[in-house]
Amino acid sequence: MLKVGIIGVGAMGTQHFLRLMNKISGATVTAVSDVNEAHAKEVIVPYAGVRFIADPIALINDADVDAIVIVSADKTHEEFCLEALRLKKFIFCEKPLSASAEGARKVVDAEMAGGKRLIQLGFNRRFDPAYQELKELVVSGSLGEPLVAHCAHRNANYPAPFDDVVAVTGTAIHEIDTMSWLVGDYFTKAQVIFPKCTKYSKNENLHDPQIVLLTTSSGMVITCEIWVNCQYAYDIRCEVLCEDGTATLPRHARVNVCTKNSNTFGMTSDGLGFFEESYNVEFQAWVDACAHDSYCAAAASAWDGYCAAVTTDSCLKSQKSGAIEAVPLTDRPAFYCG
Ligand SMILES: NC(=O)c1ccc[n+]([C@@H]2O[C@H](COP(=O)([O-])OP(=O)(O)OC[C@H]3O[C@@H](n4cnc5c(N)ncnc54)[C@H](O)[C@@H]3O)[C@@H](O)[C@H]2O)c1
Repeated sequence: MLKVGIIGVGAMGTQHFLRLMNKISGATVTAVSDVNEAHAKEVIVPYAGVRFIADPIALINDADVDAIVIVSADKTHEEFCLEALRLKKFIFCEKPLSASAEGARKVVDAEMAGGKRLIQLGFNRRFDPAYQELKELVVSGSLGEPLVAHCAHRNANYPAPFDDVVAVTGTAIHEIDTMSWLVGDYFTKAQVIFPKCTKYSKNENLHDPQIVLLTTSSGMVITCEIWVNCQYAYDIRCEVLCEDGTATLPRHARVNVCTKNSNTFGMTSDGLGFFEESYNVEFQAWVDACAHDSYCAAAASAWDGYCAAVTTDSCLKSQKSGAIEAVPLTDRPAFYCG
């Protein structure tokens, strides 16, 4: 039984805790850490035997913790990954790997220096059945070469602290990793465009919506609309335009209701619920890989996290310059191939 320590039991971390305790086989949570001690204790109280450890570094070093799940604030991921790598413990780290490309590179270098792949990054869409179906079709070549893709990432509402930086490092980063994985290519250019802003933006430092334009090494162009106060629902879209046809991400199944002169599908504002199945599958894959003292090849690696961070750094630069910015990626090291 894999003994897991979780750092951060906020919105996502609480779900990962409950997932590991109730849905995933082969693992149990032995300890949690969070700066919000009162909330963390509320989360674990129904589960006898789970300890609260105030200091996350102490949790990582705890003898009763074999593997670490990092779900704390983005800026903390790098430090906790480096400590867990030092101790050669398995790591599931939520995205992003680090708040900057420079920080992500430090984590990649530390993992390579240790000689063993220990990090799985939480780019969950790689485990979503709808995205998997779309990827299979695109890479099969049956529709010819992919030329363009249009993506949309819409949230009903976001709290006031959400700003232009988080729009890229927290939200667009999902489109960045997903599209790189889906078409099997990396990005060479990035640009961010600010259209007219919605009256629902709660932060003067948030342009909402914004459009992220990405160019791959093969010349494919991907448009990503990031709109986090769209009001109506959580909505994820992706259409890939290929030489001989287009392929569109299927909508998650919702009951279709027909009444007089109308035909409607329900929608949800719950982003975590929308991708629930993918989170369950990615965690089972992580636990199974740890049990085999290995890593899950289908999951995102620390290198994928680094590539995403280099791309988001270029997007942040473009938000300021308005220009097309280069994405300075180097070749994938052999350590991260296969
Ligand atoms: N893969 C996905 O789809 C997905 C979805 C949502 C969030 N996330 C990621 O998960 C992480 C958490 O997001 P969230 O929405 O749960 O945020 P949140 O603010 O609800 O939770 C973060 C938790 O971490 C705790 N925390 C912050 N700094 C800490 C520290 N130094 N030590 C210990 N605990 C600390 C906070 O007290 C809080 O309880 C973020 O990195 C986010 O990007 C990923």
